[in-house]
Amino acid sequence: MNEEEKEQIKKEIEEEMNKKKKKHRFLKGFLFGAGATILGNVMKISIIGLGYVGLTSALCFQRLGHEVIGVDMNPNKVSLINEEISPINGYTIPLDMRFKATSNIKEAILNSEISFICVQTPTTKGKLDLSYLKKACKQIGEAIKKKKHHLIVVRSTIFPGSYEILKKIIEKSSEKKCGKGFDMALNPEFLREKTAIKDFFNPSYVVVGAETKEIGLNVLECYKGIDAKKFIVKLEVAQMIKYLNNSWHALKISYTNEIGRICEELKIDGDKLMALFCADKKLNISEKYHKIGSPFSGSCLPKDLAVLQNNINKLKLNCPIIQSISKSNEEHKRKWKK
Ligand SMILES: NC(=O)c1ccc[n+]([C@@H]2O[C@H](COP(=O)([O-])OP(=O)(O)OC[C@H]3O[C@@H](n4cnc5c(N)ncnc54)[C@H](O)[C@@H]3O)[C@@H](O)[C@H]2O)c1
Repeated sequence: MNEEEKEQIKKEIEEEMNKKKKKHRFLKGFLFGAGATILGNVMKISIIGLGYVGLTSALCFQRLGHEVIGVDMNPNKVSLINEEISPINGYTIPLDMRFKATSNIKEAILNSEISFICVQTPTTKGKLDLSYLKKACKQIGEAIKKKKHHLIVVRSTIFPGSYEILKKIIEKSSEKKCGKGFDMALNPEFLREKTAIKDFFNPSYVVVGAETKEIGLNVLECYKGIDAKKFIVKLEVAQMIKYLNNSWHALKISYTNEIGRICEELKIDGDKLMALFCADKKLNISEKYHKIGSPFSGSCLPKDLAVLQNNINKLKLNCPIIQSISKSNEEHKRKWKK
């Protein structure tokens, strides 16, 4: 990233922050930056894992006026952050957003009331690897043994069922029961790496999965000042939403590319066609057709899909998504009748 690009990112962040300042100008004492007063309580937050998600969360929660301490098991990362050098290539740490980092998880837990776990959840052949999360949960459990209360929030992406595994690990290592001495919640992250800070301050929404509304509201306390829709949902929903969102984004990209391949063969300007498609916000880019229920039918959808599929075959193209739509619908019909 060159100096010009860095300046551009800084400018964009400043613009976002200024917009928010203007919006909340009427609220006395509402300032961003070091020593800021915030709309709600100042929360003592620890962030476990300082990768893209953790680093962004730490910087932005600090900027919102909370007290933040960041933890990473990689001491080099910790030193770099404390020297205000970004450990991530191409990611700048805005000077007025710095926070303290440590590799001592116990110190961080004892000096905070809420922890956001942001460690990696890699996959091997599609199998979710919870080992980093399990280790972090064990460490947190040990650290809270003698603590009166702690709120543990999993921000890493996990598949439904994982929460229970992690809860049991914390219960075992802390010798406490969830709900007595500690609470747990989920707070999936939707940022994009290139626009991480901007996305934090302007999220599509903030989602918290929690067993009770009270726990959910405690987590949302950290987001006071963020002007976005906020949802407290069931734990399974909070675990599933990332997989729904990301598979949907992947589907949209691949589907669009299939259309692009068809357009190329038919000598149609694919970009212009896609722009026209996206201009329809009533049916195409909208909530319509996102109700789980009956399979598609009627006089147009099956007929026009069949013509498109037939022409894909005639053009000798391989467009597996479009070609498999009717198969998926037939499968749904079969299940739907039962
Ligand atoms: N990168 C993204 O754009 C993005 C967006 C949304 C959600 N997510 C999800 O968020 C999670 C984190 O992603 P990331 O890209 O920030 O990961 P990352 O690999 O960049 O960073 C994880 C960090 O956690 C540290 N770590 C691991 N175990 C630790 C422990 N026990 N104690 C302290 N530090 C520990 C690692 O050293 C590393 O620095 C993943 O579940 C990912 O799927 C990522």
